[in-house]
Amino acid sequence: MEKKFKRTTVTSALPYANGGVHIGHLAGVYVPADIYVRYLRLKGEDVMFIGGSDEHGVPVTQRARKEGITPQQVVDRYHKMIKDSFEEFGISFDVYSRTTSATHHQFASDFFRKLYDDGKLIERTTKQFYDEATGTFKTDRDIVGECPYCHNEANGDQCEKCGRDLDPTELINPRSKESGAQLVLRDTTNWFLPLNEYEGWLKQWILEGHKEWRSNVYGQCKSWLDMELQPRAMTRDLDWGIPVPVEGAEGKVLYVWFDAPIGYISNTKELCESNPQRWGTWQQWWQQEDTRLVHFIGKDNIVFHCIIFPVMMKAHGGYIMPDNVPANEFLNLEGDKISTSRNWAVWLHEYLRDFPGKQDVLRYALTASAPETKDNDFTWAEFQARNNNELVAVYGNFVNRALQLTQKYYEGVVPACGELTDYDRETIAEFKDVKQKVENLLDNFKFRDAQKEAMNLARIGNKYIADCEPWKVIKTDPERVKTIINISLQLTANLAIAFEPFLPFSSKKLYQMLNVEPLGWENLGSTELLKAGHQLAKPELLFEKIEDEAIQAQMDRLERIKKENAQSSESYQAGLNGQVVKGEDEVNEAANVKVEPVKPEVTFDDFEKLDIRVGTVVSCEKVKKSNKLLKFEIADGELTSPSGEDGKGLRTILSGIAQHYQPEDLVGKQVCFIANFPPRKMMGLESQGMILSAVDADGSLSVITPQREVKPGSQVG
Ligand code: MF3
Ligand code: ZN
Repeated sequence: MEKKFKRTTVTSALPYANGGVHIGHLAGVYVPADIYVRYLRLKGEDVMFIGGSDEHGVPVTQRARKEGITPQQVVDRYHKMIKDSFEEFGISFDVYSRTTSATHHQFASDFFRKLYDDGKLIERTTKQFYDEATGTFKTDRDIVGECPYCHNEANGDQCEKCGRDLDPTELINPRSKESGAQLVLRDTTNWFLPLNEYEGWLKQWILEGHKEWRSNVYGQCKSWLDMELQPRAMTRDLDWGIPVPVEGAEGKVLYVWFDAPIGYISNTKELCESNPQRWGTWQQWWQQEDTRLVHFIGKDNIVFHCIIFPVMMKAHGGYIMPDNVPANEFLNLEGDKISTSRNWAVWLHEYLRDFPGKQDVLRYALTASAPETKDNDFTWAEFQARNNNELVAVYGNFVNRALQLTQKYYEGVVPACGELTDYDRETIAEFKDVKQKVENLLDNFKFRDAQKEAMNLARIGNKYIADCEPWKVIKTDPERVKTIINISLQLTANLAIAFEPFLPFSSKKLYQMLNVEPLGWENLGSTELLKAGHQLAKPELLFEKIEDEAIQAQMDRLERIKKENAQSSESYQAGLNGQVVKGEDEVNEAANVKVEPVKPEVTFDDFEKLDIRVGTVVSCEKVKKSNKLLKFEIADGELTSPSGEDGKGLRTILSGIAQHYQPEDLVGKQVCFIANFPPRKMMGLESQGMILSAVDADGSLSVITPQREVKPGSQVG
């Protein structure tokens, strides 16, 4: 037997207030959460929909630094922007607050303090990088240094150039990203949540108790629980966040992933206190066993919502656990991962600028390709097709026919329904079915399929009108047409209900055209929603066709972004090939630059790891569409297996020196190259090494050549 719940608390991940909202956010979290909540409300259930901005954490401080403003200014700006976007797209939060609110600071602080007082946290001293100049500890992402693998500049947690995960202590010559100052390791004490102590409980609760969770969520939990859980730091040495409420913890704040989920609770508290009559107490929503808690999140948040936050609540005591966590996979854009830093995204504010009033079209398209079980792709072509072939041609077309015919034959007054034919009865039976189907799907968080069922209702309607041909029958049997139109109008009202969770703006418009108040979910399937004699309002088009030009404009924009990205990644790639590639202005500046200081000491063993060889350039040409890259074919003494793809035993190397040489001038020359770097792809070509050059004071490059010709493949050492 299912547990009987009296109310549902629905949360949606609090977005970091360090940027805008894009289609990935909407598709993965906010649209499904909104559909679910609207559905429950329509059913008359007691539900609270909680959102808010996540305003602490390193991403915010980084943004502030980048823009030269304070973290508070960053979050003020983006909180407003995010909140506005959500409103515009009809994401119907009951509360949208922020983690910088006073209520939240107090709540999170008290929550931590209780864990601390109850001995639920362990104290640990670790070594961390410290900037003596500013007297601050640095988080991984605030540290830069030389990547020990590819020797480019890398962040403390990851080298973006070669993609490796790093520990900041691995970096060569670690420095502060902010000031460039050298960093030292220093002891620091923080408080950890011993996740390991809750392993047995978690296994029982999730692995035994929630086998019904989506397989991606269950699977991720299982793989975490199969590894040994480790204590996790709940405090950080940072100055942006909620101060750790413990004596001697000056300069430390709560870990952003500690305070953010508590934001759900403090936002509930704010709402309840603002209207206790309506909402009661926050405890009802978070601590009562007859409350069901559901978290909507993206897949990168699973561990926090299924393991860490539950353990926090368990350790604190008194809280209910999430009943379900319907996490989505990721949405890609035109085949590529959405990326804020590469601007590879469709931003909501830009979408609205380009497609004003078309919020529902995007909601529809995103739900239709929602990444529910696997990553999915958003393409503009599909967006256009969904609009033109489904919203316009099916839903809009049916509604328009029903309303226009009513206008034409009955001056917009609902005609009375006469005797039903068998075909009428079949049609009615078919659309009565839809309610149960949509409910089952929504109850199981299958939003794509649920929306398909709603659209199916419109298909039923289209078929009905097409089969009944009222425009012909009107000439022979006008009484019969009244019934056909009555049924079509009842179906139209059903569509407004069925689509309301998915396309709230369109339903609103449709209700206005039908000249009725919004109808509750229980009416879905009814054939008595519009009384005979009821006057409808003037019909308008529900959706309009999107032309090729509008889609082309979006594709052009993405094409431009792709080009810009290719250019900047080309300079980086070229840099990887040993060439310091700089923008034009930087090159000129280089003339005044002193020689580079000597790098930190390495051992002979370190040097020995590099395999430097000499090769003879057999051919050299410019790489198409690139103004920096040259493609070399190098005879390397058949280090590259002679049975290699080309069978010539030549090695292909790409090098970013096109601005310094005419390709033909290098043919026949000998060059030195690193032979044991892993192959890399650039501009669709594979490069099998890196050609060495000297960088002159003015930034110009000169390839390194042995003083006399040697056998190809000779080692340099
Ligand atoms: N800000 C986080 C992110 O964007 C999500 C926080 S969800 C919450 O990934 F639980 F912490 F609120
Ligand atoms: Zn690297």
